[in-house]
Amino acid sequence: MSLRLGDKAPNFKAKTSKGEIDFYEFLGDSWGVLFSHPADYTPVCTTELGRTAALKDEFEKRNVKVAALSVDSVESHHGWIEDINETQNVEVNFPIIGDENREIAEAYDMIHPNASATATVRSLFVIAPDKTIKLIISYPASTGRNFQEILRVIDSLQLTANYSVATPADWKQGEDVVITPAVKDEDVPAKFPKGHTVIKPYLRMTPQPNK
Ligand code: BEZ
Repeated sequence: MSLRLGDKAPNFKAKTSKGEIDFYEFLGDSWGVLFSHPADYTPVCTTELGRTAALKDEFEKRNVKVAALSVDSVESHHGWIEDINETQNVEVNFPIIGDENREIAEAYDMIHPNASATATVRSLFVIAPDKTIKLIISYPASTGRNFQEILRVIDSLQLTANYSVATPADWKQGEDVVITPAVKDEDVPAKFPKGHTVIKPYLRMTPQPNK
């Protein structure tokens, strides 16, 4: 059965471009991003992994560990990393898992047989420090992912893990947020001392609490 939001991320041991890892040990107490790409030495994947490397500081700022995966070998990853570094002007600094026997790809449902019988699609999982899955996205091979959007979702996940708020459409760090319906009207002023606006009884806005 496929993984769903709130499920525990399966642990695994894997060979990677940075040596063998136990996934849970690799994550430690950090947040995690595990993402698959269809194949090494392909153009869109080259740009995606390059962008991820370029965003190293952004992931670190958010206490996020990143790991990539494809069903190619670690040896293949090593050669391709040189190309990524050269063409994208980066240093790939995160492990790329060599999942040649597809065990991890299958555990995470990264192979969608009606898209490709053998290659992983562009799956991405955000994993919280308690190892539960907080975000699942799947993109086709033909469409590179938007890594700014992934950072934006991580910002939302980290904010909403700590405050009784949710983030509205297109929200970005620093913008007003929604007070969750579970908060009673009488509790709003104490919980949100920066103030709030009632647009409808069910639509109450407040400045981002941690800014
Ligand atoms: C790419 O990364 O460019 C790619 C990979 C597999 C199929 C199509 C494109």
